[in-house]
Amino acid sequence: MQVYADMQRMHGRKLALVPTMGSLHKGHLSLVKRAQAEADHVTVSIFVNPTQFGPSEDFEAYPRDFQRDCALLEELGGVSAVFAPSEATLYPSGSDQQRVWITCPEMSSQLCGKYRSGHFRGVLTVVMKLFAACNPHIGVFGLKDIQQFVLLKKMIEDLSLNIKIIGGETVREANGLAYSSRNEYLTAEERHQAGIISEAIYSAVQMIEAGEKSLETVTGKIHETIGSVPQAKLQYAEIVTAGTLQPVEQFMPGMQVIIALAVYFRQIRLIDNAFALVPAQ
Ligand code: PAJ
Repeated sequence: MQVYADMQRMHGRKLALVPTMGSLHKGHLSLVKRAQAEADHVTVSIFVNPTQFGPSEDFEAYPRDFQRDCALLEELGGVSAVFAPSEATLYPSGSDQQRVWITCPEMSSQLCGKYRSGHFRGVLTVVMKLFAACNPHIGVFGLKDIQQFVLLKKMIEDLSLNIKIIGGETVREANGLAYSSRNEYLTAEERHQAGIISEAIYSAVQMIEAGEKSLETVTGKIHETIGSVPQAKLQYAEIVTAGTLQPVEQFMPGMQVIIALAVYFRQIRLIDNAFALVPAQ
């Protein structure tokens, strides 16, 4: 892959990489389209990364269907390469023998990081490996995983990587539910009910943008909305600053904030977020 990427660079092509764990859906495909608009050569990587799953998480059960993924990419067209390395390729010493990690403790301790210890260490490290393998000029990631996006942006900055990061908007199903490979675990009824997550987020966006000043009122409304669906269990609802993901203590005029939620349906964990702009006055 490294030699192949070098050859593409020698031909003067601009390379984009779209890292995924497969089980592709419309959210992933929108990132591929975004990559196509920015580059001459698009690589999609497919690798279910063991080091970003906790011991009690769904690594084994995570949906995998390589043939279907390739068929979807072929149907979409314009993808130059699919990079689907073995675990031994990306973790030559074995994923349990990896000793060198990329971490960012300050930005991994809030939101999802609070509940998924070691998750972002696994994500940062594997994306660094994928960058090293595919040598892209551009990396395209979804804003749906906002903490992941902000951490990767910081990694690129702090390690002086010569890679431009692009964030793709979250693609949603008709009822507002953000596409996720984990939606496959939901029953049809749960999938329908899970529309409540984006409903809660967007009602908070509306409140903030209409000038609501009280954080408690906004978070209270989120709890109330999620609480209206008994099957939905809120893990967290947080309002953080857009740049650094620090908890907002007070809405300040002109501030851009992110409303981020994690919600369980049975043991299935779904996350979503949206940006909101606090009015100038
Ligand atoms: P995965 O969950 O497969 O997601 C791959 C990319 O698709 C991520 O950048 C994610 O933010 C984006 N994405 C997921 N759902 C989306 C949606 N509904 N709309 C737009 N984009 C969406 O995220 C990972 O894999 C992994 O952590 C990875 C970065 C590949 C490292 O292993």
